[in-house]
Amino acid sequence: MAMFFTNDSMRATLASYGLRTPPGVLIDGSFHFEDPCRLAANCILQHASIAAYSYIMHNVQLEHTEVGRYCSIARNVTCLGSTHPTTSLSTSPVFYDKTSFNWRFGDIPVFEPEATRKIRIGHDVWIGANAVVSPGVTIGQGAVIGANAVVTNDVDPYMIVAGVPARVVRSRFSDRLIQRILASNWTDYDIPAWLKSNSMPDTRNLSEKTFASVENAINSGVAPPIRPQAYRLFRRQQGDIAIEKI
Ligand SMILES: CC(C)(COP(=O)(O)OP(=O)(O)OC[C@H]1O[C@@H](n2cnc3c(N)ncnc32)[C@H](O)[C@@H]1OP(=O)(O)O)[C@@H](O)C(=O)NCCC(=O)NCCS
Repeated sequence: MAMFFTNDSMRATLASYGLRTPPGVLIDGSFHFEDPCRLAANCILQHASIAAYSYIMHNVQLEHTEVGRYCSIARNVTCLGSTHPTTSLSTSPVFYDKTSFNWRFGDIPVFEPEATRKIRIGHDVWIGANAVVSPGVTIGQGAVIGANAVVTNDVDPYMIVAGVPARVVRSRFSDRLIQRILASNWTDYDIPAWLKSNSMPDTRNLSEKTFASVENAINSGVAPPIRPQAYRLFRRQQGDIAIEKI
């Protein structure tokens, strides 16, 4: 059952759990989030999850999509994990989705429902405005998707891709540095606490040398491991919206 968050007190409650959402967001089906994450107006999220420190801009639609930590998803991005059959008489859901027209005709026999193919967006991915991601695609950690791209194939970690269909433009870092970044699992550590302590090295032009200080902080405990609290948001049988820890 769909959930709209028009009510200020409901949104204040969600913010206290770490989900910042304006009015006009629609959440339908299962929804999981980690504390903290941010949504902008007119997003539609159906069977989606968003991990900590990620934000979703205006008019984004995510369906059967998992979003990792530290992701930036620009306006009008579409990630739809469901497909319609292309080898049947018709692609219309009237043939395979019991719920599509039963409001009009009651239950009618249907063929097997079309399988959904989940989209997986890794940690620290930036998706540019208006990009479209095809069902079943996995976008690796640290990848960048150019504005207006149509992503039909998996994207390797730390690759920048663009165009229709999306092709590799370049890699963000050398292969060696990418392997070190992936091996560090830095997204599992308390980076915000480290930033607050003012001891975070300058990682703006990341090199093997500056990344060594990130590894040192992880190994010495300056940035302790963290597992942000995760929640499930759902509508109860009685109709009210509930949040539970997972
Ligand atoms: C993909 C992107 C990050 C690449 O930036 P960059 O590394 O500085 O790349 P460059 O501008 O040097 O372009 C490299 C090549 O890719 C092409 N290219 C870059 N962005 C492209 C895009 N979105 N679509 C198609 N081709 C693109 C360029 O034309 C260039 O091709 P050429 O080598 O044949 O001339 C950037 O172009 C982009 O799309 N950013 C997203 C912007 C956005 O949506 N912001 C929203 C705010 S959250």
